[in-house]
Amino acid sequence: METLVERVISAGLPRHVALIMDGNGRWATARGLPRTAGHQAGARAAERLIRFVGDRLGLRHMTLYAFSTENWTRPEAEVDYLMDLLEQFVDEKLEEFVTSGVRLHVAGDVDGLPASVRKTVRRAIEKTESGDRLHLTIALNYGSRQEIARACREIAIQVAQGTLSVSDVDEEAIARRLYVAQVPDPDLVIRTSGTVRLSNFLLWQAAYAELHFTETLWPDFTPAEFVKIIAEYHTRVRRYGGIEEGE
Ligand code: FPP
Repeated sequence: METLVERVISAGLPRHVALIMDGNGRWATARGLPRTAGHQAGARAAERLIRFVGDRLGLRHMTLYAFSTENWTRPEAEVDYLMDLLEQFVDEKLEEFVTSGVRLHVAGDVDGLPASVRKTVRRAIEKTESGDRLHLTIALNYGSRQEIARACREIAIQVAQGTLSVSDVDEEAIARRLYVAQVPDPDLVIRTSGTVRLSNFLLWQAAYAELHFTETLWPDFTPAEFVKIIAEYHTRVRRYGGIEEGE
């Protein structure tokens, strides 16, 4: 019998799925554990999913929202823990990424990260450059409004210098200047933990994305649930502002 995994593969996978990994803190609190234990479990959930979508599913693009520009307002100890966790994660997974064809991209202000995280991330981006199975983008020190403002600033500078003409400032000109320009827009954005908002995540890129919100807290999120969400995504009709034939 055809499994759900085989069915979603043959139905055509979305090109790019982006996830807001929310609910680590609540997962830990519910167990009487410190919030950091939730982030640790969250990292394991991310690891599971990356392996599954790359090796088993054959998804081409996945983005994970790991740290937002707003997350710096959290208590210093939690920020430090998250930075260490992310650095350790990238460092530990590097070899596996290289052998399994994962190419790492980082969306966000890398210059604003602590020096050692910056160094680890840059090294991993460089070492995985030839990977072409799964393009994994980690949104790190990422904020969508900041990303768009940055692109506009770059355009303004080029117009002022006379290297870009005003008539060339179109959607494509902005899209090309976003953090990870070579990755297609997400077809599907998933947010865990029952929170129903985008929180400054891929506001430009997700203009036509399908949105899926699940009550599952991120550390409990499994590949099996991911596959069910893809199957549900297949039942949706995407019109891109037009109408369906026969409507
Ligand atoms: C949201 O949960 C999660 C984060 C701010 C951090 C995301 C980080 C991870 C899942 C771990 C590492 C990720 C990778 C890619 C290795 P929250 O703390 O806001 O939870 P709460 O809303 O229940 O408080």
